[in-house]
Amino acid sequence: MENNHSAKPPVTRVGILTGGGDCPGLNAVIRAVVRKGILYHKFDMLGIKNGWLGLMEGNIVPLDLNSISGILPRGGTILGTSRTNPFKIEGGVGKIFSQLKKFEINAVVAVGGEDTLGVANKLQDQGVNCVGVPKTIDNDLSCTDYTFGFDTAVSIVTEALDRLHTTAEAHHRVMVCEVMGRHAGWIAVEGGLAGGADYILIPEMPFDINEICSQITKRHYRGKEFSIVVVAEGAAPKEDSLTTQSEELDAFGHVRLGGIGYVLSKEIEKRTGFETRATVLGHIQRGGSPTAFDRILATRFGVAAIDLVQEGRFGHMVSLQGNKILPVPLAEAVAKIKTVDMELYELAKVFFG
Ligand code: F6P
Repeated sequence: MENNHSAKPPVTRVGILTGGGDCPGLNAVIRAVVRKGILYHKFDMLGIKNGWLGLMEGNIVPLDLNSISGILPRGGTILGTSRTNPFKIEGGVGKIFSQLKKFEINAVVAVGGEDTLGVANKLQDQGVNCVGVPKTIDNDLSCTDYTFGFDTAVSIVTEALDRLHTTAEAHHRVMVCEVMGRHAGWIAVEGGLAGGADYILIPEMPFDINEICSQITKRHYRGKEFSIVVVAEGAAPKEDSLTTQSEELDAFGHVRLGGIGYVLSKEIEKRTGFETRATVLGHIQRGGSPTAFDRILATRFGVAAIDLVQEGRFGHMVSLQGNKILPVPLAEAVAKIKTVDMELYELAKVFFG
């Protein structure tokens, strides 16, 4: 393939894939891309199974209107997903070129976070027509105000905190709630704000355990005999390393996180003498049906993405800016992650202690 649009045949066959961790709203994107692609742009639509892995293996199926019927409210992804990085597999990129040729796919809509879209960006540089759709419950993708899936995750955290509040108050306990957020604490901050957390710990701000314990103690003697601490899985104490479940790295070089909630709860109990419990929300935040906000955002992203394909505007990702859906260069979107807005964190701090 050449990186020259005028020399390419018109796009008629479009593949769609979902990569990286799943999140609620993926099926809403697939539905929107396929429906508008078939009915308005007269494309042949193909589903690439399990992210970039399916494109390497030729695990590709035709998608028609029946295959996307009834999937709007469903969590997960009908296409499956994986964290495969073809650039880390010998011959991986070559296999992708062969399959694109074999299936006569002349454009790919990649739905994913920084890793999946990073691959799309590199393939685009090598001449593959790619359009990106931003997905991650972590909301840490640059160039878009929100990614779909995030609102659902925040709603789940909010409900969990409401429930933890009543039992914390009844038993006069400290409750530590660990939420997702590898490099950015968006879920912790927005979930914590909505659920009335007394402390929110995020990867962007290493925490001081002494300070948290002294605040919990002060709060206790003020008559508040319970506290709710929300901690993002990537949060770490000052001058210490991350608490991880294993040292194993995935294809994009990420360690498996999780465990800081338990460490923190033991430490709080030891230092304050108050009974403390930990809850790890984990993958519950990623499962189930999307909120109305996520369904609508995912649908708008899907329609805008297939329109970009029709217009031949490759190398772009659709994004939400204010209330507008706008294209941004893929290269910009994957250049760096979007960390928590410190103004928002300062606002959350008003309610600490
Ligand atoms: O997709 C992002 C994310 O949900 C992170 O918040 C979390 O660290 C990671 O995925 C978990 O990944 P896995 O599903 O591979 O356990």
